[in-house]
Amino acid sequence: MRIIIEPDYQALSKKAAQIVAQRIKRKPNIVLGLATGLTPLGMYRELVRMHKEEGLDFSKVTTFNLDEYWKIPSSHPQSYHFFMWDNLFSHININPERVYIPSGTVDEVEVYCQWYEEEIRRAGGIDLQILGIGRDGHIGFNEPGSSLSSRTRVKSIAPETIEDNARFFKDKSQVPRYAITMGVGTIMEAKECVLLASGESKAEAIRKCVEGPICAECPASILQLHPRVIVILDEEASQRLNKKEYYRYVEEMSLNLRKG
Ligand code: F6R
Repeated sequence: MRIIIEPDYQALSKKAAQIVAQRIKRKPNIVLGLATGLTPLGMYRELVRMHKEEGLDFSKVTTFNLDEYWKIPSSHPQSYHFFMWDNLFSHININPERVYIPSGTVDEVEVYCQWYEEEIRRAGGIDLQILGIGRDGHIGFNEPGSSLSSRTRVKSIAPETIEDNARFFKDKSQVPRYAITMGVGTIMEAKECVLLASGESKAEAIRKCVEGPICAECPASILQLHPRVIVILDEEASQRLNKKEYYRYVEEMSLNLRKG
């Protein structure tokens, strides 16, 4: 795991956007895995700026979103469809036919989940997966106890996450109790992952993810087994890491090595 600690949310967002932009330039037909939530918002804003001011080209990019609430229609203002179009897709030159977001309303959900997995495979697999992390260590909606080899499916949302997500709805009772989500196993097949975390509320989940044992109690901890993961944190999210200074040292050393 490469751990990058930035001073604040703005710097974290900029760093994440730089990495995404660099990967797009390197492979214009890249397949991106995308997350919603508050954490990647700054990164999306920066990517939109890069598109508008620097001509970052999304025309050949394919995207697969991690998850969607079950069962709310894509037109719902709190749907992840709405979020993605509102915050990113409407502002860049992406081909809508290359945008995949799980449907929160399909009837034959098992067949649909298999189809979603199949589409990821047909696209050549995910090159770069963007992840946030829940306070309970979830990635996507793979809540504690999720199988670490799970695939796309409908999952119940944990009470802690319902509490957290209530801020986006009128009240807690309106938060959906289920979501359709890529599985942990699906995420682990991405060629590279970038996990973002900001703020003190994520510090304990980050400690478990980076330094804790690999266990289903903290699904994000499985990323320790992934060969290419970059964790980008702000100071607050990094504050419970036992080896924080060591990670800074390693990052500095590898930057020096690359400079030659
Ligand atoms: C959303 C997703 C979730 C969020 C996580 C953190 O697509 O996959 O795992 O990344 O709940 O959410 P925020 O960023 O709002 O704290």
